[in-house]
Amino acid sequence: MKTKVAVIFGGVSVEHEVSVISALQAFNAIDRSKYDPVPIYISKTKEWYTGDVLTDIENYKDLDQLFKQADRVVLEQEREGTIVLKKKDRSLFSKGVITTIDVIFPVIHGTNGEDGSLQGYFELLGLPYVGCDVASSAAGMDKVMMKQILRDSGVPIVDYEWFYSTQWHEQQDEIKQLAEKVGYPVIVKPANLGSSVGISKVSNAEELDEAIDLAISYSFKVIIEKMVTDLTEVNCSVIGDYEEVESSVCEQVLSTDEILSYADKYQSGGKTGDTKGMESVNRIIPAEISEEATAKVKELAEVTFRLLNASGVSRIDFLLNPEGEVFVNEINTIPGSLSFYLWGPSGKDFEQLTDQLIQLALKRERERQSIQFSIDTNLFSLQSKGQGTKGK
Ligand SMILES: Nc1ncnc2c1ncn2[C@@H]1O[C@H](COP(=O)(O)OP(=O)(O)O)[C@@H](O)[C@H]1O
Ligand SMILES: [Mg+2]
Repeated sequence: MKTKVAVIFGGVSVEHEVSVISALQAFNAIDRSKYDPVPIYISKTKEWYTGDVLTDIENYKDLDQLFKQADRVVLEQEREGTIVLKKKDRSLFSKGVITTIDVIFPVIHGTNGEDGSLQGYFELLGLPYVGCDVASSAAGMDKVMMKQILRDSGVPIVDYEWFYSTQWHEQQDEIKQLAEKVGYPVIVKPANLGSSVGISKVSNAEELDEAIDLAISYSFKVIIEKMVTDLTEVNCSVIGDYEEVESSVCEQVLSTDEILSYADKYQSGGKTGDTKGMESVNRIIPAEISEEATAKVKELAEVTFRLLNASGVSRIDFLLNPEGEVFVNEINTIPGSLSFYLWGPSGKDFEQLTDQLIQLALKRERERQSIQFSIDTNLFSLQSKGQGTKGK
């Protein structure tokens, strides 16, 4: 029997549409001789759907029609070890089971998908899933936590300060001091979004208020970061888990503005309606940087992946300055288009990539089964027999 792989995408995130593109690319790449892929789409209003209609990107232009043709579904544990996809509105006489699911493949960028929440849900269901676990997803998504972990291990990152959004209203002077401490020009970012949403470049104290007001409208935590001028942006993908990692070729990302914007990333083909996700970003592969810088980027990408205990495929993004310094900017634990285009040069096509990711998920599941999560003894029953413990 083929392994049933549910590819789950969409979701409540500013990167909803990008997720649909990435997910359908992955869905189409899955090897049909080994796996049976099933699409699960989460609408912006949090409803879950399945059906063939979801596999054609054209159908997303008319969502009302799409929802009519798809089935509303839920995931349920039928008995231990068996997870089923069921129709939500089933009749009294039908169980409404559409299919069993062996492993789930999340391709949801950003909030609720990449931040550990969805991963936590799969943990509770006992459903093996592709990619980072709860803790590594959460640490990767929160730029403050990620920087704290990296800084603690001496990984080079740019100087930064951070604060809770609520502090802005009560301690404006202190926060303005934080920006002075970092030193202008600075970049102001919400701590846990993606796709450049809510990010501003700030050259002086006068511009700070507006940038912070924007950032706090998106997040409870805000980062003020030293801006790298004459920036070269380089990304590198890493695949593997805690035991073994491999880094890809490096890409150099070309932006049309100083901050690589949402439009740069996803709408390069904009006017022609050509939506190809991260593939369409203006980029040079391999990055036109020195051999030394390439080696440094690859090494730091692997170190970052391991430190955050990532698994599956991630993309680690770097900021390089003209002095040859290399700083880790961020990790994307569910990168756009799963960074498949960075693996071609190493001889791994998208089909092999999705295969490896599914196999890594199944490997983690096997490893988990050997770990004890509970103790069979019922302490209460011991107590009633007079053998109990006294509190501790
Ligand atoms: N410290 C920095 N110096 C200069 N440019 C930066 C800096 N941080 C971010 N940028 C620019 O802003 C873009 C988005 O920032 P990033 O931290 O990658 O956030 P996101 O998670 O939204 O992708 C980067 O791709 C880069 O162009
Ligand atoms: Mg980024």
